[in-house]
Amino acid sequence: MPLITYIDHKGNAFEADVPVGDSVMQGAVDNMIDGIIGECGGACACATCHCIVEDAWFEKTGPASDDEKLMLEMSSEMQDNSRLSCQIEVTEDLDGLVVHMPQSQY
Ligand code: FES
Repeated sequence: MPLITYIDHKGNAFEADVPVGDSVMQGAVDNMIDGIIGECGGACACATCHCIVEDAWFEKTGPASDDEKLMLEMSSEMQDNSRLSCQIEVTEDLDGLVVHMPQSQY
């Protein structure tokens, strides 16, 4: 299973093995990692799963869709490489992915 590293706003890292086909959001929720809430269950309707993809991985995850951008714009912490983690599907290619979680989600 791909290993995903979630880094909180204080720099603490949490690792989780996330099944292919799950979302990065689901991986955090299933492993009780604080900082990704996932209030709408992955429907791209809440933005409580905001994450900032580490620069080196952004090409592999790709940019946010237009619908994602609309949600992300509600966040004061949006950055160029922001994504909704519920919209990032885990694939073998994302083994080693590193995402950062914004302070506002704690
Ligand atoms: Fe609600 Fe991702 S879980 S937008």
